[in-house]
Amino acid sequence: MQKLNFETVFAHQIVFVENLNHSKIEGYRYGSVTAVAHSNIALIKYWGKRAIQKNLPAVGSISLTLDALHTKTTLQFDEALKQDVFLLNEEKVEGKQLKRISDFLNLAVGYSERPKARIISKNNFPTGAGLASSASGFAALALALDDRFGLNLNRENLSALARMGSGSAARSLYGGFVEMKLGSKDDGSEDVAVQLKDESHWDLRLLAAVTSTQKKDLGSTEGMNRTAETAPFYDAWISSQPKDIEEMKKAISTKDFEKLGELTEHSCFKMHGLAMATRPPILYWNAATTETIHRVWKLRQSGIPAFVTIDAGPQVKILCLSDSVDEIKEAVLDVNGVEYIIEAKPGPAARIVHPEKEIIR
Ligand code: DP6
Repeated sequence: MQKLNFETVFAHQIVFVENLNHSKIEGYRYGSVTAVAHSNIALIKYWGKRAIQKNLPAVGSISLTLDALHTKTTLQFDEALKQDVFLLNEEKVEGKQLKRISDFLNLAVGYSERPKARIISKNNFPTGAGLASSASGFAALALALDDRFGLNLNRENLSALARMGSGSAARSLYGGFVEMKLGSKDDGSEDVAVQLKDESHWDLRLLAAVTSTQKKDLGSTEGMNRTAETAPFYDAWISSQPKDIEEMKKAISTKDFEKLGELTEHSCFKMHGLAMATRPPILYWNAATTETIHRVWKLRQSGIPAFVTIDAGPQVKILCLSDSVDEIKEAVLDVNGVEYIIEAKPGPAARIVHPEKEIIR
């Protein structure tokens, strides 16, 4: 462990660390660390920020962590580097995306005088196409950062750290069902994620019907900020969220699948309706997205319990029970434009791993 000059290098970090109430930082560790985090699907959506600078969400949200979708990130600080290096899926990332990572590191560990970092990340699913790559990515990075700086943050504080990179990332620190709390303080100390139930609580399935692997044109950050500025129903979105959160918590704890599905669809269409009412309008769907929604609704009419949800991209995520997976897959793969389906179960919490032992396929 190398000692650093706190006054200069960690001036910023000390403020952050005091906010997070954790033990003293001693410096950064040589060598690399590897972390894995799973992506999550929002059942009650986060859309909109109450403070853009600190990335504080304007609404609480509830998610399910997914076992089949994950990011594996190796982090190393290296004094020989002149700038941060970020490799994503074996390709060097530069420009805006690299800046987002560098800004996150600066914020978390102490301004731009910190040692530069080498970050090697791999997603086992299409990046930036509405499958929550920023959620798993920033959750893995937060955990790796905590290890390299010996911060020893507890999970809630780790979630606050990940939230600074991406709001949905706060939820990926935990397995199973997770709530991102809506805080009221300006410093964001209450805006943390907590686990509602772990991954063994309910054996649900999530089928992600991939209708396009293209990167989306408009990222969620930009999309939600535009919505907050221009959508006429934005206030109604904010004020109706607490009820959805409370009802969803009840549906999860009582394992009421019909209620969980109904609330999930409601939150999804409320968010997308709001996005469509933005100026200029935001529409993340393609023709296959719409077709898949109708196909799932038809299945439901025929007695198969299945519900859709969609994030900031054209993929349709279908919530269902294990015994209807095959039938749903067959019907949805038949939709023109559905390329393939990823099947996921409730997934585990983010964790530090041995780099060779947990292989990303
Ligand atoms: C539609 O977490 O990507 O997936 O905080 O700006 O990085 P930033 O936004 P991000 O937004 C996720 C939006 C969503 C809904 C959700 O995951 O709750």
